[in-house]
Amino acid sequence: MKKIKVALFGHGFLGKWHAEKAKGLEESELVLIVEPQFQNHEDLKRRYPETEIVTSWQGHESKFEAALIVTPTSFHFQLCHELIAIGKHIFCEKPVTSTYSEALKLSRELKPGQVFQVGHSERCHKVWEDVRLKKFFKSSELLIEVSRQSAFKARATDVDVVQDLMIHDIDLMLWLMEEKPKSLSSLGFKIRTQTWDHVKTQFEFSPQKRVEIHVGRNAACEERYWKLTSKDGQVFIDLLRNEIRFSDNKTETTSVESYEKRDHLLLEQKSFYKSILSNIPPMVSLMDGVRAVYLVEESLNSLISSGPKKLDFRE
Ligand SMILES: NC(=O)c1ccc[n+]([C@@H]2O[C@H](COP(=O)([O-])OP(=O)(O)OC[C@H]3O[C@@H](n4cnc5c(N)ncnc54)[C@H](O)[C@@H]3O)[C@@H](O)[C@H]2O)c1
Repeated sequence: MKKIKVALFGHGFLGKWHAEKAKGLEESELVLIVEPQFQNHEDLKRRYPETEIVTSWQGHESKFEAALIVTPTSFHFQLCHELIAIGKHIFCEKPVTSTYSEALKLSRELKPGQVFQVGHSERCHKVWEDVRLKKFFKSSELLIEVSRQSAFKARATDVDVVQDLMIHDIDLMLWLMEEKPKSLSSLGFKIRTQTWDHVKTQFEFSPQKRVEIHVGRNAACEERYWKLTSKDGQVFIDLLRNEIRFSDNKTETTSVESYEKRDHLLLEQKSFYKSILSNIPPMVSLMDGVRAVYLVEESLNSLISSGPKKLDFRE
């Protein structure tokens, strides 16, 4: 099998796991790690003896075909912009960029045949393949309550909790609902950092169809769930415990089932390499990333103006 020559940008908290996958997969060859913090280089050279370790990628362009961007979000735009211009395939962690206008700019620069996948890894939960969920998402009367709460970790505090955590559920919402919300309204607090640490945003699809996403990074109790309520009953999906509970109004029965826990980064990378090798669309496209960043931005605008926002996806 042809191996894709891969460069990893950013060997930090998440980058180290991406490096392991790129090294271990039969579809890829990890040829380059770009990490500006040179004090880590000796350790990296020991762990990846076959891989070149550098502080800057300039001068190494010809050595790789695909890039994994796992740097802090503020670097995503400039790196992607430069790598698109020289024809590289790109996997970029979420959020694809810090602002909506940057994300739109990348979408206009991307050339036909160039694969661009965004790291919205929460799509990899096996539970989303459960066909019983379809009728809930299609229901015209539906309330979805989502919560993603983590303890304070003093990590990723350069971005607010909407960019860091809510974006996972925003992407899931757009993907699972297969339609776009008409308006949103947010409420939030700055508790531990200079940015928003605790935010609740309500997305309205129609007066009878709403999604409320509540995220926090100051939680007493960690939780990560989706709760769907319709006339048919209720579904509770626990993304931390990999569990799904149904309550069916017609049969008046309830059930609890576990679902298989999967390696999301591995699935994402396999899908990325398959798109390059087979010339098929990636599992999360650049436009998916653009839409998620748009809703992040409008959710933050609603916090600043303390009012609802009408949505207009300019694409
Ligand atoms: N999908 C997920 O669930 C998930 C989870 C965590 C983080 N992330 C995303 O991954 C990205 C990285 O997060 P992290 O927590 O690993 O950050 P981190 O700060 O731990 O690591 C980032 C690394 O990138 C390096 N770096 C900075 N500028 C660079 C450049 N120009 N070129 C190459 N390397 C550079 C830094 O030195 C650092 O080692 C963020 O965009 C974050 O949102 C996604």
